[in-house]
Amino acid sequence: MTTPVALDYVARLAPYVPGKPIEDVARELRLDPSTIVKLASNENPRGPGPAVRRALSAATEELMRYPDGNGFALKAALASRYGVTPDEIVLGNGSNDVLELVTHAFLRPGDSAVYSRHAFAVYPIATQARGAAGIEVAPARDLGHDLAAMRAAIAPSTRIVFVANPNNPTGTWLAPAAVEAFISSVPEDVLVVLDEAYNEYLEPEQCAPSAAWTRKHANLIVSRTFSKAYGLAALRVGYGIMNAQVAEMLNRVRQPFNVNALAQAAALAALGDTAYVEESRALNTAGRATLEEGFRRLGLAYVPSHANFVMVKVGDAGRIYQRLLEQGVIVRPVANYALPEWLRVTVGVRTENRRVLEALERALTG
Ligand SMILES: Cc1ncc(COP(=O)(O)O)c(C=O)c1O
Repeated sequence: MTTPVALDYVARLAPYVPGKPIEDVARELRLDPSTIVKLASNENPRGPGPAVRRALSAATEELMRYPDGNGFALKAALASRYGVTPDEIVLGNGSNDVLELVTHAFLRPGDSAVYSRHAFAVYPIATQARGAAGIEVAPARDLGHDLAAMRAAIAPSTRIVFVANPNNPTGTWLAPAAVEAFISSVPEDVLVVLDEAYNEYLEPEQCAPSAAWTRKHANLIVSRTFSKAYGLAALRVGYGIMNAQVAEMLNRVRQPFNVNALAQAAALAALGDTAYVEESRALNTAGRATLEEGFRRLGLAYVPSHANFVMVKVGDAGRIYQRLLEQGVIVRPVANYALPEWLRVTVGVRTENRRVLEALERALTG
């Protein structure tokens, strides 16, 4: 039997490797799932707040209806929060969807996209899936983006530059002035995708006025998500803020109902519950300090983080990862990011942070 042949650039794609699910670890290592700690996917360990739970429960009354394909209420709330109009917002099935919509609308074979070494894995995947070439800028600067080198790497074929701020998996951060200077330096016919998935974890004074920048730079797309600080990763909802004409292009290739009704209702409630997000940020800042302190105590190098995870250098990361799994602690190997000696640990609640540090000590000494 022969199977139909896929596009060559699709066949060559290395698929995204997600964090290992709790159920898999429980099954494979015969552990009780309720005892397993997952700090592998940069989720909010508190989950959503009470306002979201109420909104979800109300939304289940209408499960027979298609969602609002235009996301009217959620876009209106986002527009009012960020001082833009609803037609400058595109909703996505997670911000991952927004990244893919950009490549769908703007990349074709022969084009290229620029991104940093150790930057979020979806940039090369979404680029290659369109038959375009990825230009990876290396070496990174202290494991973060080297903006000058990224500017220099822009080629005549380049249509998109991806900048993650803060970056996953390194947790590195670029000051707003440097990012804006970079955007101003990029040719106007090249899109800059500024991925701010972890924006809500920054201290308020570190946050860039990036939504306002989209009014000055028609080639800027800011992407954000409800998966991280808002605690809605399971529902898949993110958004992009951009020039209305660029948004119109993304909407042409967007599935009509790409964000489901429960996700829209939950995101709207989460956006309104600013106190809950603020508590999550404070809990994260404290938990991140605990992890960093613990790594110092264990004599391990780590990258000071601006997000809800910390990358720590453990040496033989594959072996340490396995030893952590055996103790019911799931973290994230980052060898696929050209960082074979490092592990990425998501900040959990207090008990989870203690648990990962204890397990790590045993894994290193055992
Ligand atoms: C930098 C960055 N951007 C985007 C995403 C995509 O998240 P989502 O599709 O859940 O919004 C992630 C998820 O880990 C991320 O780390």
